[in-house]
Amino acid sequence: MDEALAAGGEVVELGVGTGRIAIPTALAGAHVIGVDSSPGMLAVCADRAREAGVEARLDLRLGDLRKPPVDERVLLVTCPFRSYLHLRDDGERLEALSASRELLRSGGRLVFDVFTPSREDIEETHGRWIEREPGIDERADWDLSAQTLTLSVRGPQGSSTMTLWWVEPERWHSLLAEAGFQVVACYGWFDRRPFTGGEDSVWIATRT
Ligand SMILES: C[S@@+](CC[C@H](N)C(=O)[O-])C[C@H]1O[C@@H](n2cnc3c(N)ncnc32)[C@H](O)[C@@H]1O
Repeated sequence: MDEALAAGGEVVELGVGTGRIAIPTALAGAHVIGVDSSPGMLAVCADRAREAGVEARLDLRLGDLRKPPVDERVLLVTCPFRSYLHLRDDGERLEALSASRELLRSGGRLVFDVFTPSREDIEETHGRWIEREPGIDERADWDLSAQTLTLSVRGPQGSSTMTLWWVEPERWHSLLAEAGFQVVACYGWFDRRPFTGGEDSVWIATRT
């Protein structure tokens, strides 16, 4: 939200999901173009935007973040809550980063976060059902050689499984450079604490 307001109130959010971030950002006064490849997530987001009274400031578009259906050029593109981990290899990562760069005006910023699991997290969670929220269980199956996390979720309304692919922060750094970005900052969390090698990294990069 801070980044959106600092950028003058116009932002493209890639992987907008149910609007967890886009709706408060629109409530704060920004105009958000939200892209997602899931019609179901966009439908929930549209309902929530209407309930919050911000549907006029939230422009939802069905599409892939590697080829976002966005002709506008903005000063801020965000991809929050690890959506880039849906990309399965460096080819897809580069395609997505280059597409984000294309959306940016000169001086514009890309902000996103990813994670790289620790050995301890893998050992603690591997193959175990863990209650994440009342009535909602989650199970992580880690593959260290393929660097994949297969995440299963089950709850009263059904169950689902998805795969995420992680790479080390150094790899994100070089992919950003290859895609034509300069890294302005890499934080360890959203409060902008420095990244010191933890699981989460929050990146701010600008078009070179
Ligand atoms: C972890 S959620 C993040 C949602 C939201 N940004 C948030 O912070 O709550 C990831 C979202 O990315 C979407 N997604 C996954 N792969 C995508 C792709 N290739 N193109 C566009 N959206 C994608 C999913 O449908 C999902 O809504």
